[in-house]
Amino acid sequence: MTAVKEETAFGVAVVEADPERRQGLACQLGEVGIAVFPSLHGLQSELVGSASAVVVLGPSCALRSELEQVEWLARSRPALGVVLVVEELSTTVLQQAMRAGVKDVLASPDRAQLAWAVARVADSLTLATASQLVLAPPSNEALGRVVSVFSAKGGSGTSVVAANLAVTLARRLPGTVALVDADLQFGDVAVMLESRLEHSIADAAAAGERLDAPLLQSLMVRHDPSGLLVLPAPIEPALAEKVGAEDVRRIIEVLRSFCDHIVVDTASRFDDVTLALFDQSDEIVMVSGMEVPGIKNLKLGVQTLRLLDTPASKLKLVLVRSNTKVQMELRDIERALALKADVVVPNDAVVPESLNKCVPVVIDAPRSAVSRAFEALADAFVPAAEPVKRRRAIFSWRG
Ligand SMILES: Nc1ncnc2c1ncn2[C@@H]1O[C@H](COP(=O)(O)OP(=O)(O)OP(=O)(O)O)[C@@H](O)[C@H]1O
Ligand SMILES: [Mg+2]
Repeated sequence: MTAVKEETAFGVAVVEADPERRQGLACQLGEVGIAVFPSLHGLQSELVGSASAVVVLGPSCALRSELEQVEWLARSRPALGVVLVVEELSTTVLQQAMRAGVKDVLASPDRAQLAWAVARVADSLTLATASQLVLAPPSNEALGRVVSVFSAKGGSGTSVVAANLAVTLARRLPGTVALVDADLQFGDVAVMLESRLEHSIADAAAAGERLDAPLLQSLMVRHDPSGLLVLPAPIEPALAEKVGAEDVRRIIEVLRSFCDHIVVDTASRFDDVTLALFDQSDEIVMVSGMEVPGIKNLKLGVQTLRLLDTPASKLKLVLVRSNTKVQMELRDIERALALKADVVVPNDAVVPESLNKCVPVVIDAPRSAVSRAFEALADAFVPAAEPVKRRRAIFSWRG
């Protein structure tokens, strides 16, 4: 058995009463250098000093009595980051675990998922240690940039634009770009990116005032091909009611503290959540088809934003061509809106094809005209050729 040593930068410990499961978790984590304990008591008695360690708790620790001990442990030893592995995830266990200070709860994870969770928590410990040394809060300039993608008419291609913009930015700046699905009832970003649906924006909202960067990171899922961090919409439409404008505002604020770019996909509604997002956004990407009804709604949307005193400099216009011949000419649209289109996305079967494969079109068909349009849109935020100064990569440690 290897104890968690003071001199290691951070160690990994497994706690589980069942010997087979304990061994299984240690194997998943690669065994070497992993300390294994049959109980929390055993772990506590071997912990020395204030060394950072990630503690992976097995399913036997999900009982209320055990989680009370975990809470005490997490409070008394801030250099410990706790991950809980359960067989099935229930809202009760998730809430109890979060209250106890557990940073991530995983249901029967595979090797890669467990390694990522440990890496994220380890990274958050490093960040927490670093933030203890740097007392000054980040200046406004250091905060991430928020881009909301909105359409005044449903089905215009908003989520396709949001997902592909976010993935393109993430490929330029891996680990520092987030995509938030704020289409609270029918958000489909997680499906589009084939992301695991373990946690969602509803869990981040449920954390209330306790939401901080490590907790939010543990609720996000990484899109491995691009390094994008995704915060999915609630798993059921009914949970949408539990996420209010104030919750979304808090979530974005926390995201801004550790991400350079936050892309937000929105529902096609002017409700309090969307308005709060517009208020917080540095840019608003308006998406519309080029048929008359879409343009009529777009005009109303732009007028509403002007009434809300949104500066014109905040607006970007993305037009998506339909395959009908009955669409307005680009110059007529621009004249009607008194706005120039930043990007026109062609209509192309590569989009529905990529959606069916759950692969963003910029990855699935990188040379298509559609992908080139998304690259051009991303250039407005992070120029492709320019060497980019990154704030920090969140997931630098690989398990
Ligand atoms: N450039 C394009 N070429 C062809 N089809 C497209 C293009 N952009 C979007 N679509 C199609 O339009 C449909 C709607 O796209 P998307 O889900 O992005 O729209 P939305 O505005 O987010 O819709 P909702 O209001 O349901 O959230 C999709 O089925 C997609 O295949
Ligand atoms: Mg959508």
